[in-house]
Amino acid sequence: MTVKISGTGSALPEKTVTNFDMAKLVDTSDEWIRERTGIAERRISTKDTVSTLAAKACQAALENAGASAEEVELIIVATCSPELLLPCCACQVQSVIGAPHAVAFDINAACSGFLFALNTAYAYMNTGLYKNALIVGSEVLSKLVDWSDRSTCVLFGDGAGAAYIQTVKDEEALCENGRHSGIESIVQGSDGSKGMVLSCGERGVSNPFANDSEQPSKYIHMDGQEVYKFATRQVPACISEALNKAGIGVDDVDKFVLHQANVRIIESVAKRLKADISKFPMNLDRVGNMSSATIPVLLDELNRSGQLKRGDRLVLSGFGAGLTYGASVIVW
Ligand code: COA
Repeated sequence: MTVKISGTGSALPEKTVTNFDMAKLVDTSDEWIRERTGIAERRISTKDTVSTLAAKACQAALENAGASAEEVELIIVATCSPELLLPCCACQVQSVIGAPHAVAFDINAACSGFLFALNTAYAYMNTGLYKNALIVGSEVLSKLVDWSDRSTCVLFGDGAGAAYIQTVKDEEALCENGRHSGIESIVQGSDGSKGMVLSCGERGVSNPFANDSEQPSKYIHMDGQEVYKFATRQVPACISEALNKAGIGVDDVDKFVLHQANVRIIESVAKRLKADISKFPMNLDRVGNMSSATIPVLLDELNRSGQLKRGDRLVLSGFGAGLTYGASVIVW
């Protein structure tokens, strides 16, 4: 038995905000943002929520897989920007798409979220508990961003991506090139001791019995250089570990689908791995950093534009707040 991705979907808000639009809000320029990050524009929600985007991405993934919501057994939404604390976004999605038989819950591993959700579903499915799952990364980061802080507001965008994964028999997973579709290795890690280099507060302790306590900032706060150092060190290290676990080398990989935070981080990872940069597809110029949604949105773009063939070997790798990081080797 193996677990393979049978369909993908994504949903982006309609409104495009360019770097020139950003320069009207804060003291920045198209040149600075492009040079330091590679981002030219991002999508910003004017009405979509994390759950409406997630539901649209799930419906598209089911359609792409030729599956129905009725048969879905597990829904995991990765998000760090839900519109409600209760109920969780996955339950909202379950209700909207009509998947009454699914178990639904959220996880928060920030930008590593989609990868962690995929790995969680994989672990469940490996035990035989569920036969399929909808895995989603959905974010409306625009409501967590301080729109007067030029060092963060230019980086992020809103959107959602989803994948429908299924347990299949080995013979059904056999590809023309002799590889088997499925997950070949998983590496994931966390370093909570460095959590405050990328943080965003919610409500602090507040009740009739508490002394007045300082309320945390409700906006994203980031030490960009610390995050940059962490990503450029940790991402190549965990990708190398995942490749070792799978018993393969960099040259055996067809595409590296990395979290889209910054083009310089992706270029640095490619250099450290001694991998050809043309194997690192990117869309951050058009959508910015959408946290947990970046990997599944990029995967969906590649899938729908015919850039993925069954049997292609992909490395998915993410990093972000927590701090969290991970890499998975999969065969498409
Ligand atoms: N436009 C113009 N100038 C800006 C700016 C902007 N949008 N944002 C910051 N600056 C300024 C700073 O104020 C600073 O000015 P100063 O020298 O007068 O103090 C200068 O640019 C350099 O700032 P610095 O923070 O050193 O820039 P940097 O080269 O580290 O680039 C990031 C900033 C955020 C692009 C970079 O650190 C980065 O990409 N880090 C990783 C962040 C990330 O990926 N986070 C998400 C993880 S999931």
